[in-house]
Amino acid sequence: MKSFKISLLVLLIVFVGIQFIPTKRNQSENVPKTDFIIVNNAPKNIKNTFQTSCYDCHSNNTSYPWYNKVQPVAWLLENHIEEGKAELNFSEWDNYSDRRKKSKLKSIISQIEDNEMPLSSYTIIHKNANLSNQQKSEIIDWISKLDMK
Ligand code: HEC
Repeated sequence: MKSFKISLLVLLIVFVGIQFIPTKRNQSENVPKTDFIIVNNAPKNIKNTFQTSCYDCHSNNTSYPWYNKVQPVAWLLENHIEEGKAELNFSEWDNYSDRRKKSKLKSIISQIEDNEMPLSSYTIIHKNANLSNQQKSEIIDWISKLDMK
């Protein structure tokens, strides 16, 4: 029993300690002209869905709820942001070549159809990022029309 209490105390100290290690904040003041939503003139519902469900990891601007400031959640998210942005950064959309845009649009549709995105480790705590069937079909319809151009 005594060693159990000591372990708990050690865990608590570690937990408090790691809160002081800083993480990089993925935040910039303004939305760039190259942004996916702006370039493609997305209607409001599409804009909201992307911003709520994708932009935290796939843009230069993450909105952090309080629990995303708590370690180790903040590290996990930081990691996802780095990987996510490397694959697809909606803030830099218009800097992509036409070929890259096309392939990313296809990839967005397939990730959404297969329920791969948003990541489930994210939607566990970020419930409002879950996509309803209606949101999925709205996005897929809208993107399919973009791809026609
Ligand atoms: C919690 C962070 C996170 C969220 C939220 C998120 N993604 Fe991702 N996304 C990633 C990471 C990390 C990768 C790269 C690793 C992988 O594929 O699992 C990725 C990969 C992708 C890829 C693959 C890119 C390629 O070139 O094949 C697409 C497309 C994508 N995400 C679209 C989306 C869309 C659309 C949403 C919103 C509906 C979304 N993601 C939400 C983290 C996230």
